[in-house]
Amino acid sequence: MGRFVITIDGPAGSGKSSIAELLSKRDGFVHINSGAFYRSIAFILGDKPTDEELKKLKLDVRIKDGKMIVFYNGERIDDKLQAESIGRIASKIAKLSFVRDFVNSTIRKVAMNGMFVVDGRDCGSVMFKDADLKIYLTASAEERARRRAAQTNEDYDFVLKEIKDRDEQDKNREIAPLVKPYGAFEIDSTKLDIEGVYKRIKSLMGKSDEDR
Ligand code: DC
Repeated sequence: MGRFVITIDGPAGSGKSSIAELLSKRDGFVHINSGAFYRSIAFILGDKPTDEELKKLKLDVRIKDGKMIVFYNGERIDDKLQAESIGRIASKIAKLSFVRDFVNSTIRKVAMNGMFVVDGRDCGSVMFKDADLKIYLTASAEERARRRAAQTNEDYDFVLKEIKDRDEQDKNREIAPLVKPYGAFEIDSTKLDIEGVYKRIKSLMGKSDEDR
């Protein structure tokens, strides 16, 4: 069996995980949420992880019904990672090269054979440069904050500020900053619902870079 990889990169709250989950449900892709790795490390090791600590960290990543589930010490943790406070620490530690190397190599090992949709910030630009389809998903900061606040039950103004700070940090870091990957198709989801994004991605499957 070969491998087919779709990467979805974009800023916080642009709807990457939601569309990736839909692709997993309807089309049999396994969804790998790379942000969950940065969030797991932030959750367990805090904002100053060391290389030593990371080498000893035993994250247990399992795939169930097309979804990635993360366990630590026998306990499921992926449903505890959504708060913006964890996102902030994740964004901070994502600047460290040893953290990025750890996440990339773990994900590449998981996604060896099969159909995968991987979402994050550098999935099409670094992690899977040779992906079969690359999407760059955007939306206005206000729309993204509205979605995140509804998802996490946090205050809209607080989430908007955090999202803008995170955009700055993720786009301006030295290693693997958030960019529109080479060969990616850009989709602005500000005024497009999830079905609209889904239709667009389905129409792009099988198209080549020249069609951009
Ligand atoms: O997608 P998310 O909000 O769960 O990601 C949390 C943080 O993790 C994000 O602000 C930056 C970092 N991240 C990254 O640097 N590279 C990725 N591929 C995914 C996430």
